[in-house]
Amino acid sequence: MASLSLQGLVKRYGHTQVVHGIDLEVADGEFIVLVGPSGCGKSTTLRMIAGLESVTAGTLRIGDKVVNRLEPKDRDIAMVFQNYALYPHMSVFKNIAFGLLAAKRPKDEIETKVKRAAEMLGLTAYLDRRPSELSGGQRQRVAMGRAIVRDPSVFLFDEPLSNLDAQLRGQVRTEIKRLHQTLRTTTIYVTHDQVEAMTLADRIVIMRDGRIEQVGTPLDVFHTPASIFVAGFIGTPTMNFMTLPAARDGVAATLKLGEGAVIPVSSAIVGARERVVAGIRPDDLRVETAGTGATLRPGEVRFEGTVIIAEPLGTATQVTLRAHGHELVGMADGRLLPASGETVAVTVDTKLAHFFDPDGARLRG
Ligand SMILES: Nc1ncnc2c1ncn2[C@@H]1O[C@H](COP(=O)(O)OP(=O)(O)OP(=O)(O)O)[C@@H](O)[C@H]1O
Ligand SMILES: [Mg+2]
Repeated sequence: MASLSLQGLVKRYGHTQVVHGIDLEVADGEFIVLVGPSGCGKSTTLRMIAGLESVTAGTLRIGDKVVNRLEPKDRDIAMVFQNYALYPHMSVFKNIAFGLLAAKRPKDEIETKVKRAAEMLGLTAYLDRRPSELSGGQRQRVAMGRAIVRDPSVFLFDEPLSNLDAQLRGQVRTEIKRLHQTLRTTTIYVTHDQVEAMTLADRIVIMRDGRIEQVGTPLDVFHTPASIFVAGFIGTPTMNFMTLPAARDGVAATLKLGEGAVIPVSSAIVGARERVVAGIRPDDLRVETAGTGATLRPGEVRFEGTVIIAEPLGTATQVTLRAHGHELVGMADGRLLPASGETVAVTVDTKLAHFFDPDGARLRG
């Protein structure tokens, strides 16, 4: 086990810089998830840590040791990729044992370690099979087994579940979490899937164009996103954003959503701005049959909207609607399925709204 430190990490390919100086301190045993849009530099960062790409500038430490120039095999790291690259002609046992066999470890040590890993991953019954006789999820677990038996200081995962169907993803994700709770190995995990990010991470690192946009616990980045970018990236369905005209009135201020619908805010949030971006998560935008809503509680505003499309998800119905010229996504009770064109009541708890400067930064009141 080991801590990991990235200081001013830069990657250039020729004249093109793709990672622009990343600073990140990872504690021993921590589970870090890197997320961000395609091409933002997640894999490049991971590959620099693994030693599969050279570091253009900056310092990379594992534990107390600077490893910039260390060969991958000397970094005590195990990496699991998206395409699990198993040896098709070898049994599951040999695939898991591969690194230990190559290192000519004693036979009984190999037996013990492979069996223990297989036990952890639910692969005991499959040790004699070939990879072609396994499901996608089982193959991915074999790839993880191969990483586990090496007992590395750091695990690196690059979208390990993206080849699996939704149900298997969920299962293997839970296994990865359980594994980390057992082994407590320092882990950096790259994914596109923000459910994976939220559920697995001790801290999430949101990257954008080769830079870190925000680092925080899952609850931090969800409830206090530092920018429109993070707010729009974390959470499904995506947060609603509305650029609204601001009016100041002493210490109070309002953002005008539409005729008769204003969001009260502190004047500190508005400052000298003429416009503020309000962000409301679909879960905080309640859709009901017109005329049926309960009495408004403090901080709530209600207005009418016209349904564009309603999508039943089971527990809730996701409703895309138009109100005051804004296209918004809200949630209705799962038993409600309003028709396109129907008028509905929309209730927003403005205390749960997020506010941003039009340039993207979060505003605090
Ligand atoms: N060998 C290379 N030569 C030049 N540019 C590269 C090379 N490898 C990656 N890049 C560029 O570096 C940037 C970051 O790529 P990277 O693979 O790290 O992105 P990513 O965040 O992992 O994306 P994805 O989510 O699609 O996997 C991209 O713009 C990519 O085109
Ligand atoms: Mg990648």
